[in-house]
Amino acid sequence: MKKIIIAIDGYSSTGKSSFAQRIAAELGYVYIDTGALYRAVTLHAVRLGILTPDNRIDLNALLGALNNTYIAFRFNEVTQRNETYLNGENVEQEIRRLEISNQVSHIAVLPEVRAYVDERLVELGKQKGVVMDGRDIGTAVFPNAELKIFMTADPLVRAERRLKELLPKQPEATLEAVLANLQQRDIIDSSRETHPLTQAPDALILDNTHMTMEDQMEWIRSILPKYLNHESNH
Ligand code: DC
Repeated sequence: MKKIIIAIDGYSSTGKSSFAQRIAAELGYVYIDTGALYRAVTLHAVRLGILTPDNRIDLNALLGALNNTYIAFRFNEVTQRNETYLNGENVEQEIRRLEISNQVSHIAVLPEVRAYVDERLVELGKQKGVVMDGRDIGTAVFPNAELKIFMTADPLVRAERRLKELLPKQPEATLEAVLANLQQRDIIDSSRETHPLTQAPDALILDNTHMTMEDQMEWIRSILPKYLNHESNH
């Protein structure tokens, strides 16, 4: 069966990564969490003092730092998940913290950072047989992806899901703070000039407000054969 690229875009906390990981496991594909790259760059910039808590950025210093930054994914056999490494250090937990979530959109807005991340993504996608989730995968990074999905869900449902994930690691997190963060990110992600979050015209919309993971898997199983068997010249 031919290997394809599956691009999953959509709003924050719509369950893109859980869904993408399930699809990748089922197909024996590689899952790539593109937001993790933006988060790792953000963490690096915060640590170096290049990005301040009030979101001021020293762009020249950031560009210099990116030249010496190596971000990679390594598969953890125990958790069966890819984990993110920043210059050799496992930063998987740290990049998920609410502080980083609050700042990442300010880094992802920079065209220079997007170019840096896109270069890595194009490299990773060359092998095909990948499921990537993000905001601009089907529109900008892989506009020729064979299957594009655009995910959305009610904001309150999204905030509740994200809070459940965060609480074990960050017991001080509140529903209000999480909801505010994701609404703020939706606005910044959708309104930025370079590669904003938009639905590709040929993307299939998946609103999972009232769907379980199993419902979503049933949906994808029903449509996948058409895309896996489809002949194309990409
Ligand atoms: O998917 P996530 O919440 O981990 O993404 C973190 C941030 O990175 C998100 O606020 C927007 C940005 N992002 C992006 O601009 N483009 C992508 N392809 C993926 C993420």
